[in-house]
Amino acid sequence: MVEPGMKELETWDREHVWHAFTQMAEHVPFLIREAHGCTLVDMQGREYLDGVSSLWCNIHGHRHPRLDEAIRRQLDEVAHVTLLGMSHPTTVKLARRLAEIAPGLPHVFFSDSGASAVEVALKLAFQYWQQCERPQPRKTKYLAFEHAYHGDTLGSVSVGGVARFHAMFRPLLFEVVRLPAPDTYRLPAGVIPETACEHYLAFVEQAIEENHQELAAVVIEPLVQAAAGMLMHPSGFLAGVREITRRHNVLLIADEVAVGMGRTGTMFACEQELVVPDLLCLGKGLTGGYLPLAATLATDKIWRAFLGKYEESKTFFHGHTYGGNPLGAAAALATLDVFEEEQTLAAMQPKVQRLAEHLARISSHPHIGDVRQRGLMAGIELVRDKTTKEPYPWSEQRGILACRHALSHGVWLRPLGNVVVILPPLAISLAELDRICLAAEAGIDEATRK
Ligand SMILES: Cc1ncc(COP(=O)(O)O)c(C=O)c1O
Repeated sequence: MVEPGMKELETWDREHVWHAFTQMAEHVPFLIREAHGCTLVDMQGREYLDGVSSLWCNIHGHRHPRLDEAIRRQLDEVAHVTLLGMSHPTTVKLARRLAEIAPGLPHVFFSDSGASAVEVALKLAFQYWQQCERPQPRKTKYLAFEHAYHGDTLGSVSVGGVARFHAMFRPLLFEVVRLPAPDTYRLPAGVIPETACEHYLAFVEQAIEENHQELAAVVIEPLVQAAAGMLMHPSGFLAGVREITRRHNVLLIADEVAVGMGRTGTMFACEQELVVPDLLCLGKGLTGGYLPLAATLATDKIWRAFLGKYEESKTFFHGHTYGGNPLGAAAALATLDVFEEEQTLAAMQPKVQRLAEHLARISSHPHIGDVRQRGLMAGIELVRDKTTKEPYPWSEQRGILACRHALSHGVWLRPLGNVVVILPPLAISLAELDRICLAAEAGIDEATRK
């Protein structure tokens, strides 16, 4: 086959590739040929800093020699071994390693995407109550938060709460007990930042008190609701939810697909509030952003409820062909090795500080309503009116415009509505971070001029 030229590839991209979350009638092809470190290179050799970590999953940079080498080595042994009836040393080692870094969660169910990791958690929680020591078959519901995002399969969409993505599928979804997102920017009248945690926890307390006999689990994105626009929970909220769920015998599912793997400054966001959930979901950065692998970690209490004779039918009848794929596991083990070798969590602290300094400066812009940050995860919210917090109409696509301008300054960003997201690989250098923030600022300025 003759190698296609760039024009041809762009045509094929428009005609044959149905892009995720994209209006294909307006799709403008943007082909990336290669990448290195935190830089993406397009077909013409133009370079862009990756300001959003390939959609929040890259950790140590692109083409990291340790990760590349680990995958190549694995490839020389075997690319895939099923977990249905067999296993592979690399996958076993990864499960052991995850159990070591997530105390209290020693059992690992592998899948292949964040949404699957959440589906697995939802189904495990459901089945747990059907067959635990004192079964409670009425416990079949979930409590979740407004604007939550847990992936795009029907179970994860059911617990999700982003109207623009999810409303279309409403007839297909199961009902959940829905509570207000604990938003610290748009606080209800009469609530001040100091009382926000208490205010939102009161809803949780009441809802769980009323529904605990039917609630299988609470599903939460710990600390940050990422897809909601980097919405930050008040500190203490997660610990409060854990305390209430424990008291009322309701399971807690922590969806760390976006916030896990160092993103918020600790390996897992739950650590910051000393929380051990019953089920913890990982994806995205688990393989450093290299390969599709996800995991649902479970406590011993959950695990034990699934043990028994085959004929008791306590088995978890759920699986994904590529769950626990050895190439992905090799990338994940190497990702964890690099965390240690490069002291990634300690090394990111000055970057977190530098990002905070940039955000503090940017926040004075007349059309920036809020800047929010946890670790190397930040959102800059554009508003029409700073005093009233009136948003720009979504149809004006201000966030997209800002990111388009940033691209012309050599920085790739992808917004969430009116929120410009800054979420670089943890390996970003201070100089690169400066360039990303300055490009974002210039883009925002340009996009809010009229
Ligand atoms: C918190 C959270 N959960 C789940 C998912 C879904 O992950 P995936 O796209 O790998 O299915 C995402 C994706 O952004 C996420 O942010």
